[in-house]
Amino acid sequence: MRITRYPTPTAAAAAASRLLVTRLRETPALVVGLPTGATAVPFYAGLVRAYRCGRVDFRRATTFNLDEFVGLAPADARSYRAFMQRHLFDHVNLVPTRTHVLNGAARDLRAEARRFEARIDAAGGLDLVVIGIGRNGHIGFNEPAAALEARTHETRLTRSSREANADAFGGWRRVPAHALTMGIGTILGARQVLLLATGASKATILARALDGPVTTRIPASLLQTHPDVRVVADAAAADRLQR
Ligand code: GLP
Repeated sequence: MRITRYPTPTAAAAAASRLLVTRLRETPALVVGLPTGATAVPFYAGLVRAYRCGRVDFRRATTFNLDEFVGLAPADARSYRAFMQRHLFDHVNLVPTRTHVLNGAARDLRAEARRFEARIDAAGGLDLVVIGIGRNGHIGFNEPAAALEARTHETRLTRSSREANADAFGGWRRVPAHALTMGIGTILGARQVLLLATGASKATILARALDGPVTTRIPASLLQTHPDVRVVADAAAADRLQR
């Protein structure tokens, strides 16, 4: 695991953007898993800047998002599909049919999850997955539990995760109670993982995830078992790390 620290969230996000740009220049047909959340906003801004300056071309790339709320149509402004359109997809030359976001409004959620996994397989698997970390240690929406599901599935959100998303919905009780998420095996199956963590609110959980024991109670701790993880953090999030 390689951990790189930057003085500010902006610098950390820019470093993560550069890393993805470099990967795309080496492998234009990159298959990449993408996150949502506040941490990802400056990361996407960096990608859009790089695209506008002609430093990166997304035309041959394929993307798969980590998760989506159950019950929200893709056109709903609060959906993660809408987030992705707003922050990345509408501004770069990704081919729309190669941007995959789970449909939380699908009538048959199991079939939707199976279809998503099949598409990842058909694309040759994820070359790289970019992830954030929830304050409770979730990755994607794999919440702390006695056991974790390997593949894409429907999950019940913890109160902590609903609270973290409360602003967009006008209170945590209005945040959908369920989500679809890549499974822990889907994420760990990526050939490379890039974890971006910024802000003091992530310091304790980041240290527990990276320095503590591997436990399903902190899903991000399973990253310790992956052979190629890059952690990009700002000073505040890295503050409690032992290395
Ligand atoms: C969200 C997403 C995660 C994300 C995490 C952190 O709810 N499901 O994929 O990494 O929680 O979000 P933030 O960056 O807003 O702290």
